[in-house]
Amino acid sequence: MYETLALVGATGAVGRIVLETLEQRKFPYKHLKLLASERSVGREVTVGGKTLVVELLEPSAFSDVDLVIASTPDEVSAEFAPWAVDAGAVVVDESGFWRMDPSVPLIVPEVNPEAVDNHSGIIASPNCSTTQMVVALAPLHSAAKVKRVVVSTYQATSGAGLAGNEELYESVRSELAGKLHPPRTFQHPIGFNLIPQIGSEKYQGYTSEEMKMVYETRKIMGDEDIQVCPTCVRVPVTIGHSESILVETEKPLSVDEACELFQRAPGVTVVDNLDQQLYPMPRDCDGKDDVFVGRIREDLSCSNGIAFWCVSDNLRKGAATNAVQIAELLVERAAMSAEKK
Ligand SMILES: NC(=O)c1ccc[n+]([C@@H]2O[C@H](COP(=O)([O-])OP(=O)(O)OC[C@H]3O[C@@H](n4cnc5c(N)ncnc54)[C@H](OP(=O)(O)O)[C@@H]3O)[C@@H](O)[C@H]2O)c1
Repeated sequence: MYETLALVGATGAVGRIVLETLEQRKFPYKHLKLLASERSVGREVTVGGKTLVVELLEPSAFSDVDLVIASTPDEVSAEFAPWAVDAGAVVVDESGFWRMDPSVPLIVPEVNPEAVDNHSGIIASPNCSTTQMVVALAPLHSAAKVKRVVVSTYQATSGAGLAGNEELYESVRSELAGKLHPPRTFQHPIGFNLIPQIGSEKYQGYTSEEMKMVYETRKIMGDEDIQVCPTCVRVPVTIGHSESILVETEKPLSVDEACELFQRAPGVTVVDNLDQQLYPMPRDCDGKDDVFVGRIREDLSCSNGIAFWCVSDNLRKGAATNAVQIAELLVERAAMSAEKK
């Protein structure tokens, strides 16, 4: 068991849900430390009936810590993760900074749990839109080998942290009052709008968010040949990313076979009955851990193609739940190696 767990970025959109998730899943630890920036130092947070005070993220904060779950901006993670590792802790990091580092495993426990054994102190949790997609793709890949994926995302404002949701509320209020709200977090007003840009331009007209979906999918699924064409769009929804996914496989898969594979896959719930107007929607997935799949049908535009719709709570499976599941893998592995000794 890890004795002292530190949550870095405990006050953010993801950090708050990590706290909830740890309690709900009864994650084992003896002591808990909450770390954030100077802005939040001294803030009181109630966890499991106890009041904890947020402390400053600084090198000495890790002297007694053996496990860290972190959700901070990339540049903060780049700086603090080595402090924690030098102090002997293992870091499960939600930021984008370490994900493509060859020495850092990038893990979705339903897809590549074995990668946890190859860490050197830092383990990364993927981008939220990638996580839900690979959970859904994994069973299709095992059965029929995924060759190509065309994905369009409809991403919630909480994907941009607490500031994202605040901006959505302010923008909607301003629009209803007949005023235009000047955007801060997003590139354009988000109220009653869609913004087909998440991140900045990264490669040949694709944004950083889109290229994360390309690179991270290949790393997690352990297949550099998978072709991914993403379009990432911010939508005025507070929680829950939705994705329209077209997947081309090497071997043919019928719609019935795809449905069965989804139904049997860990972490996937199928909600699919068009006649009864049943399909996953962000409102229904809010606060849930699974990846929800529906509208499963043949892609009529190519051979060996399946089209489906996929929704998941970006703050839960897209972030907090995935990180806590990685920490649970570490606990399991530590218990197994203690038994062997
Ligand atoms: N939101 C999602 O759906 C999602 C999904 C997957 C991954 N992620 C990743 O998770 C990370 C956090 O995202 P978020 O949505 O939770 O953002 P957020 O709501 O803006 O929270 C950021 C957290 O980082 C802390 N922080 C910021 N600057 C700091 C500094 N200099 N020193 C110490 N702590 C600092 C903040 O503390 P203060 O309260 O002191 O400012 C806050 O606790 C990002 O890397 C993001 O890409 C987010």
